[in-house]
Amino acid sequence: MSGDMLMISDLNKTFVAPVGEIIALNNIQLNVRKGELVTIIGPSGCGKSTLLKIVAGLDTQYTGTVLLNGKPIVGPSIEKGFIFQEPRLFPWLTVEKNIAANLSLRDVNVRRKVEELIDLVRLKGFEKSYPRELSGGMAQRVAIARALLRNPDVLLLDEPFGALDAFTRSHLQEVLLDIWQRNGTTMLFVTHDLDEAVFLGERVVIMNPHPGHIRSILSIDLPFLRKRSGSAFQEMRRLVLNEFEKVDEPLYDVGGGI
Ligand SMILES: Nc1ncnc2c1ncn2[C@@H]1O[C@H](COP(=O)(O)OP(=O)(O)O)[C@@H](O)[C@H]1O
Ligand SMILES: [Mg+2]
Repeated sequence: MSGDMLMISDLNKTFVAPVGEIIALNNIQLNVRKGELVTIIGPSGCGKSTLLKIVAGLDTQYTGTVLLNGKPIVGPSIEKGFIFQEPRLFPWLTVEKNIAANLSLRDVNVRRKVEELIDLVRLKGFEKSYPRELSGGMAQRVAIARALLRNPDVLLLDEPFGALDAFTRSHLQEVLLDIWQRNGTTMLFVTHDLDEAVFLGERVVIMNPHPGHIRSILSIDLPFLRKRSGSAFQEMRRLVLNEFEKVDEPLYDVGGGI
């Protein structure tokens, strides 16, 4: 498909480790439309983080083609926002300064944008708070706002809600969907939580390890906000789970949903 914002073809990545070569990614093909929300699910070690780091430009040692807006990715840049499992905030900076990062809040445009983002991630009133005064979910919302400050073309999220309790996680999933619907940011969201993958993804990319590869890609044709207890949701969840059960490997923890 041409016109896709992100085009990944014939992507292979091998690590050389003391135990020998590890094929982290084997022949990955994936195109992502502008504005699409794609979730990537798979067990630990199937190459999810490696894939995201390559798209982020944090790892350029691979073979194959990875194009963002038609251009090869040569390194990190402001077109690509990255969110890790931990918020990685600066403890000595307030919420608003963490969001502004190295830009000055004295610049009216920066200040206006930071205020907008604080609104968007629902942190009004906490502008002057420090990270130690925030809950895990609030801290992660600061990280999301920071990643959105420069209007990235694509937001890469590596298990961003993995460390949060189930209620906070489910709340942040809704906050993220709201942001996605308002901003239209293209998102690649990595998770090992089956419910999360089905709740958020327009498509779910199912990966398996040894070597890391895409097993299948399922479209989730359900309107947002999805009802987790609904039969259509449960059916999609079952379809995704089926993809894993086809594998001759012990089943890992794909549950843990809400
Ligand atoms: N820096 C590294 N050096 C050697 N092997 C690595 C490195 N990073 C990841 N790997 C290996 O590559 C595979 C994929 O890892 P990763 O992308 O972190 O998986 P996931 O995020 O799905 O858990 C694993 O087998 C892992 O051990
Ligand atoms: Mg990982």
